[in-house]
Amino acid sequence: VEKIALGTFPTPVEKAAALGIWVKRDDLTGDVYGGNKVRKLEWFFGEAKKRGKKRILTLGAVGSHQVVATAIYGKKHGFEVEAILVGQPASEHARENLRVALAQGLEATVAGAWAAAPFVVAARRTQDAYWIPLGGSSSLGSLGFVDAARELAAQVRAGQVPEPDVIVVALGSGGTAAGLAVGLESSETKTRVLAVAVSHPAPLLTMTAKRLARQTAALVGMTSENGARAARRIEVTGSYVGRGYGHPTRAGQLAIVSAQEAGLVVDPTYTAKALACAIDRAKEKPEEIVLYWHTLSTAPLEPLAGAEEIPPRLEKLFK
Ligand SMILES: Cc1ncc(COP(=O)(O)O)c(C=O)c1O
Repeated sequence: VEKIALGTFPTPVEKAAALGIWVKRDDLTGDVYGGNKVRKLEWFFGEAKKRGKKRILTLGAVGSHQVVATAIYGKKHGFEVEAILVGQPASEHARENLRVALAQGLEATVAGAWAAAPFVVAARRTQDAYWIPLGGSSSLGSLGFVDAARELAAQVRAGQVPEPDVIVVALGSGGTAAGLAVGLESSETKTRVLAVAVSHPAPLLTMTAKRLARQTAALVGMTSENGARAARRIEVTGSYVGRGYGHPTRAGQLAIVSAQEAGLVVDPTYTAKALACAIDRAKEKPEEIVLYWHTLSTAPLEPLAGAEEIPPRLEKLFK
C-alpha cells in the first residue's frame, strides 16, 4: 500500500516556554482540517483507492474528529462516506464537528449504544465499502505515526528541538501512541510515550495501545522482539480522564486557559487532558525534555459547517 498525500508535512515543533514544554504542532497537518487523523487517513485512503473502493464506512462518537476528518477529506477525494454514530456528552465543539461532517455529505447511521455498534457495523458493511475502524486505529492507520516519529527524529537531528525524554499525547483508540512508539523504536531514540487515557478503563486502553504497537511493528517488518520493545515505550496514565469520555475535568479547564496563553487551542475531551498531563510532568521533572503532541485540528469549522443543522434523530445522541 502507498499513502496518498492529504496533509502538509513536516508540522512545526515549537517551544512553549511559559509551560516548560515543547509542542509538536499536529494541529497544522492540513489547511482545511488538521489534527492527528490526517496522518492516518493518508494510509486508509491509499488502500481504499488501491482496492478500487468508492465508499468508506466508519464508526465513532457523534462528535468524533475521525468522522469529521474522514467526511472532509473523503469528499475532497471523491469517496462517499457513511459513519455509524454513538452518543456522547453534549458540547458546542462536538455539535460543530457533526454539522461540518453533515455539510460534507456524511451519511449518518445511528447506533443506540456502544454495545450495539458492532451489530450495526456488521449490517452496514458491504463489499463495496472500505472499512475504517474506530478512531482510525489499526496497524495501517498507525503507519502515519511511524512516519510522524521519524519526522520528529529529523527535526531533532536538524537541531530544531532537543531529543525529548517523553512525548505526552492523548490516548483514545490507541493508534497515535502505538505508531509513535514504533517510529521511536526504529529511530533508536531514548524518547518514551506517555499516553493520557481519555476514557475508562485505563488498563484496557493500555492493552489496546501496546497490542497495536506490536502489530504495527510487524507491519513495518520489525522483529517481534523489537515490536515488544516498542510497546514497552508506552506508559499510560489514567489520572486525567475524570468522570469519563467527553466529561470536562478541572485540570483540563485549567489547561485550556494555559493553552490560550501559549497561543494554542485545546478541546475538553482529548487535548486539554493531555496538555494538563504534559504541564504537570514538566513541573514534576524539570530535568526532562517534555514534548506535548498537539492532536487537535484548529482550522476554523464554521465556514465548513455553513448553515447545516442537526436533525432531531442525531440531536438525540448528545446527552
Ligand atoms: C483531538 C484528538 N486527539 C487525540 C486522539 C487520540 O488518538 P488515538 O485515537 O489514535 O488514540 C483523538 C482521537 O481519538 C483526537 O480526536
